[in-house]
Amino acid sequence: MDSFTFSCVKVVFGPDRIKEICSVVRRLGGKKVVVITDKAMKRVGEEICEILKEFDCELWSKVEPEPEIDVVDEILSSVKFDTVVGVGGGSTLDVAKLSAVAGKDSSVSEFIGKELPERSAKLILCPTTAGTGSEVTKLAVFKIPGREVKYVFDSESLYADIAIVDPMLTISAPPEVTANAGIDAICHAIEAYTSILANPITDMFAEQAIKIGAKAIREAYSNGNNLNARSEMSYASLLAGIAFNVAGTSLGHALGYAHSHIHKSPHGKSVGITMPYVLQYNAIANLEKHARIAKLLGANVDGISLRDAALNSGVEFMKLLEDLHIPTKLLDVGAGEDDVDEIAERIFLSERHVSRNPRVVKKEDMRELVKRAIYGTTHGYYG
Ligand SMILES: [Fe+2]
Repeated sequence: MDSFTFSCVKVVFGPDRIKEICSVVRRLGGKKVVVITDKAMKRVGEEICEILKEFDCELWSKVEPEPEIDVVDEILSSVKFDTVVGVGGGSTLDVAKLSAVAGKDSSVSEFIGKELPERSAKLILCPTTAGTGSEVTKLAVFKIPGREVKYVFDSESLYADIAIVDPMLTISAPPEVTANAGIDAICHAIEAYTSILANPITDMFAEQAIKIGAKAIREAYSNGNNLNARSEMSYASLLAGIAFNVAGTSLGHALGYAHSHIHKSPHGKSVGITMPYVLQYNAIANLEKHARIAKLLGANVDGISLRDAALNSGVEFMKLLEDLHIPTKLLDVGAGEDDVDEIAERIFLSERHVSRNPRVVKKEDMRELVKRAIYGTTHGYYG
């Protein structure tokens, strides 16, 4: 067995566990708390501030989707705190992470391209969607003015002291949000599982995330009040986050980013639309794992060849998209033949994702892959 490194954040998981946040802050020695959230989650943020009333607690609820890095400076200049509580989806949790790292004396833009300093505040992360897994990762993604590609901070300073994963916080998410977030989580698990950085521990987390997620996402999408489905989806997202935090994501995310500017769909939807074609492209690089993905997604692969089973992973993923009413080809979201070259080229802007892909990513192959993704062609061969 190869050598590997694995790390993981402390997690508190289960319905209503958010009510324990007071004892968590007390244990961490917090006195001045800022709860960071967005407009949509303002009410939940207020409720958490109410739970935290024994502390000096302030709410900051102005995080926008896909935030620019300047928002962190805005928070630092308007609120004083020794403890940050992030409540929201991936963007909000990323803002909370960087706010807890940044000191008061410098602008966070000075951190770009450098090692992050140690965290200056305690950090508690509470996801309100089951998708990004940001609560357990050491990553934070930001738009940087003047840069086309988002910047990814990758540092152990961004690990939370504790993640409180309470599925009750996800219960109000509408079906579309549930589907888009959930498909992101399943893609994280698939890409971590097939990444060249995967190890035996990340494989265990990723396999469970795919299996549990593929079932729970359908149930949570069709009935948002199904608490068991919500819990399983939060669990799958958490497992996927733990896996991709170590193994990383790959071509699925690189391609998702490469075409997202055309239709401006939510992140999970962007990555999901083109995942069937990525699975079929990558299958040849690891037949066993792709056959296993097909099975974990629900396909019956008994009695068929390993090759056919591996290619089935793309077909089975497409069935998942159809069940969630997510488009299965780029033509459905406004991309056409004229966009092939640009999308294929933009894949290579995500260098780190491309470098972790199990199959070498070649320019000429990417043009073919993008064409198939535009017209919805799933072949019985690898592409
Ligand atoms: Fe993602």
